[in-house]
Amino acid sequence: MSGKHTTILGIESSCDDTSAAVLCGSKIVSNCVSTQKIHQKYGGVVPELASRAHQELIVPVISEALEIAGMNLDEIDAIACTRGPGLMGSLVVGLSFAKALALAINKPLIDVNHMKAHVLAHFIEDDNKQMPNFPFLCLTVSGGHTQIVEVKADNDMKVIGTTIDDAAGEAFDKAAKMIGIDYPGGPELDRLAEDGDPNKFSFAKPNIKELDFSFSGLKTSILYKIRDLSKNEPDFVISNKLDLCASIRKSIVDILMAKILKASKHKKIKRIAIAGGVSANKELRRRLIALEDEGYSVHIPKFEYCTDNAAMVAIAGKFRFERGDFASQAIAAEPRLKW
Ligand code: KG4
Ligand code: ZN
Repeated sequence: MSGKHTTILGIESSCDDTSAAVLCGSKIVSNCVSTQKIHQKYGGVVPELASRAHQELIVPVISEALEIAGMNLDEIDAIACTRGPGLMGSLVVGLSFAKALALAINKPLIDVNHMKAHVLAHFIEDDNKQMPNFPFLCLTVSGGHTQIVEVKADNDMKVIGTTIDDAAGEAFDKAAKMIGIDYPGGPELDRLAEDGDPNKFSFAKPNIKELDFSFSGLKTSILYKIRDLSKNEPDFVISNKLDLCASIRKSIVDILMAKILKASKHKKIKRIAIAGGVSANKELRRRLIALEDEGYSVHIPKFEYCTDNAAMVAIAGKFRFERGDFASQAIAAEPRLKW
């Protein structure tokens, strides 16, 4: 399979997903992700448990990725691994393993910025999708990040807007929890919202300067509304669950859309891409796709490349490989790695 194409093994372990992928040219031949289940009962990722689980999973996940690709380690040209940002203990497991493996097979090591990898996931070759042309804007929305990135080239990206408090996925998860949906509640809230009235309830809108986001005011507004309306109607949440889901979803998506459109006007860029787990949100997808009728080009990668995965690390690694931009064995994991 490898032939003349560059073959890169990608490794991702920045949060609670242990993942390995094999990239051949610009095509993904395997992408294995093991999402740690242990965190569910704690209502969020527990860093100490995450790093322990990565230790258990890293070898099986990499072996599986190689097996699916039908490849041996000697067919790999380079190893790309997430260096940061993320949880220290989690990053260390992946990066230490990647370093050791690179030494053992005598191949270059490439360190990857997890956030840039989310953006570069759009360059994984997929027969059904067109890759974005530069420059484009990427809305990166997940449980850990909410950013608008101006992407001029694979190695020229700038964050032009970011959240000043919660991430969009966190806002979905926290709101979901208030209406009795277990962590991570974003997907279930989205599912229930399909049958609710998005205009039934309205919540406070943030008034944040420029292209930054804020979700904490919305969170408080939802909490107070539920508390006030439950006073006279103890079953308020249960009997209004679908409408609450739809109204909350609309509020969060309104915030995201307003900022990405503002950024588009400001930068005069009508190419919009999206990345991160929240890009699975049905309402957000519909609203973005609707922009195509207004002359925008919209890029939404396959869902498996939106959430945390090693395929995006491998493609980001490929760009660096082509520049001969390799890492030394002395690099350390960087939880707050900058853009
Ligand atoms: O990118 P991701 O898998 O992991 C990181 O946080 O890095 O994103 C997970 C987040 C969670 O907060 C989850 O609730 C949210 O994405 N999410 C959704 C949907 N699917 C996943 N939020 C709203 N609607 C969805 N359909
Ligand atoms: Zn991520």
